Amino acid sequence: MTSRYGRLDRFLSAALQQSRQSLRPLLAAGNVRVNGEVVMDRQRRVGPFDRIELGERLLQDREPRYLMLNKPPGVVSATRDDRHTTVLDLVPPELNDELHLAGRLDFNSTGLVILTNDGAWSRRLSQPETGVWKHYRVTLEEALDQRDVAAFAAGMRFEFEGLVTRPARLVIRGSNQADVWLQEGRYHQVRRMFAHRGNKVKTLHRLAVGNVRLDETLAPGECRALTEHEVKTIAD
Ligand code: URA
Repeated sequence: MTSRYGRLDRFLSAALQQSRQSLRPLLAAGNVRVNGEVVMDRQRRVGPFDRIELGERLLQDREPRYLMLNKPPGVVSATRDDRHTTVLDLVPPELNDELHLAGRLDFNSTGLVILTNDGAWSRRLSQPETGVWKHYRVTLEEALDQRDVAAFAAGMRFEFEGLVTRPARLVIRGSNQADVWLQEGRYHQVRRMFAHRGNKVKTLHRLAVGNVRLDETLAPGECRALTEHEVKTIAD
């Protein structure tokens, strides 16, 4: 995953397999262009989506990509798997190069998965400090009541990690159906929270991540590019 900003001379040194010292004349001669502009400052910060040229040679030219996918059940949230279809397998080949997942769903969970090649953007989305809410719709084996709502809001102790989950929101929609909003994404978190309450999740569907809602026109297995607005405002 290429995502970080770094110094131009470090980028050139890695791309050309030359020492940084040996690159100085190239820079001083005005041979290096970043996004079409000659750059002589070797300390200039460059990122994964800057277009970088050396003379006639194009060293980097990559477009950031952001997709939403409607994950069907029975698909692995991974880029590669020997036995099962992965979410990456569902993305058309011309779009799936270098993509990674910004947050996983379990094998049998369905709904919104976000994929990108922009590591800085996806890191911000998944950092607990950013506090992006994820919205799930869940059906359960047992009926729900207000004690479940209070327990989700209070947080639950996860012995394995030795922590208490952050306050979560549970809204009961019917005796065995609820909406859940979480700011975290711990392993099997929703399923484990209901297990704590002596209940069992039958289906789990993610409807939204931050301000981006799953596009209802996407059939299971389909994906589309996020709009510029969705990319900018997902974590607002
Ligand atoms: N919580 C779960 O338990 N599973 C998911 O797929 C997502 C959140």
